[in-house]
Amino acid sequence: TSTHGHGPFIAAIDQGTTSSRCIVFDRDGRIVSVDQKEHEQIFPKPGWVEHDAKEIWENVQQVVAGAVEKAGITAADVKAIGITNQRETTLMWDKNTGEPVHNAIVWQDTRTDALCRELGRNVGQDRFRRETGLPLASYFSGPKVRWLLDNVEGLRERAERGDILFGTMDSWVIWNLTGGVDGGVHVTDVTNASRTMLMNLRTLEWEERILSSMGIPAAVLPEIRSSAEVYGNAKGGALDGVPVASALGDQQAALFGQTCYDQGEAKSTYGTGTFMLMNTGTEPVQSYNGLLTTVGYRIGDQKPVYALEGSIAVTGSLVQWMRDQMGLIKSAAEIETLASSVEDNGGAYFVPAFSGLFAPYWRSDARGVIAGLTRYVTKAHIARAVLEATAWQTREITDAMTKDSGVELTALKVDGGMTSNNLLMQTLSDFLDAPVVRPMVAETTCLGAAYAAGLAVGFWPDTDALRANWRRAAEWTPRMDADKRDSEYKNWLKAVERTMGWID
Ligand code: G3P
Repeated sequence: TSTHGHGPFIAAIDQGTTSSRCIVFDRDGRIVSVDQKEHEQIFPKPGWVEHDAKEIWENVQQVVAGAVEKAGITAADVKAIGITNQRETTLMWDKNTGEPVHNAIVWQDTRTDALCRELGRNVGQDRFRRETGLPLASYFSGPKVRWLLDNVEGLRERAERGDILFGTMDSWVIWNLTGGVDGGVHVTDVTNASRTMLMNLRTLEWEERILSSMGIPAAVLPEIRSSAEVYGNAKGGALDGVPVASALGDQQAALFGQTCYDQGEAKSTYGTGTFMLMNTGTEPVQSYNGLLTTVGYRIGDQKPVYALEGSIAVTGSLVQWMRDQMGLIKSAAEIETLASSVEDNGGAYFVPAFSGLFAPYWRSDARGVIAGLTRYVTKAHIARAVLEATAWQTREITDAMTKDSGVELTALKVDGGMTSNNLLMQTLSDFLDAPVVRPMVAETTCLGAAYAAGLAVGFWPDTDALRANWRRAAEWTPRMDADKRDSEYKNWLKAVERTMGWID
């Protein structure tokens, strides 16, 4: 029995890049409890990023138990579990022991750069774009699977024998949650599968031709399911017996949580990276301006809904880098105080191409630069340049969206941790020359996973009921002079030029 009179509830698990969290929601989409735990970021070499998948599964179990306890409820009060996750991060494990064969290779990792160039040789970066909506880049899972098969001793033979499973974090969490070696289900959803570079966007099935080009045995692949249906029931743990009823990549979940259910509606999520997605309806739209075509969501056996995506690899993680690697600030929140202590960037521009450049450039050979330095520049100016980097990168993406869709941006719906930074939100509105709006529940990623799970089990009747929950909490409007904006944008683009071609 619940201490909250208004049960029952939906629990959402967000297995993110820097932490795992669980949030319990009530029927109005309000947060009842949250628990969260960070995991280690492993950087074995420049450009490499790994996670320990066992640590992640431990943390997931702990935050689920934590959120249930904080809510003062039991498994019987929870109608469904929704899953959302960092996308593309690639894991292979032994289905007989549940042991990962290697650390997970994180989406930010650039080790497959040369492999991607090799795959694109003579044909170009767009070799698989028509089928998958994606350019050949180290970001996506397929080449990471190939890297593991080539580099983990004996793995290919074990994989061909059928002993090895591949999955992104949704698959890993669902497999473990539903029993692991004891009957765990090996599935992924259409949104996560659309980031592997192995799925055909129209058929929503694994693409034979690409599997053979990349040398990936079909035996390792999970079954592709919709984003909202019951995959199985949780076995053991704090939510024993509860149906696991949704899975969406975190950015697609945020699109769903922001209730962008109509064609042309878009959101931008400010986390480790930043990802803007625009709902383009039930047909995939090809980008000619460096965006990705991806699956937005699919509810049960309804038609899939597609999206155009602008992906930025480094935004929040640049603030973390300033804190952890540079020691220029003590907490992430301090970046705002420091940046606010000066009027402007003092002439400095910071392009954080740590994982190469994602949209709209797709240059794995790029590396970060700070440009425009003079003796005048202080750490406060750098802090300002750090925040401006996030805003300019968003501007480049909204420009591409406008070109691809022909729709002018009238307002941008935002969410994610960085939206608590007022200076950043104002800067964003200034650089976009458009209003920026944030909803009441900024945890839209978990909310979206909860919504999809709730729809799957009939907890909510339809998307109209969900839309009714969206409430505006804050809005920023442009205050910047147009000439100033234009000259600053030019400087930014000059700095971007300097990042390219660093790696041969
Ligand atoms: O594509 C990567 C993205 O899913 C990671 O999101 O919020 O963990 O930075 P986040």
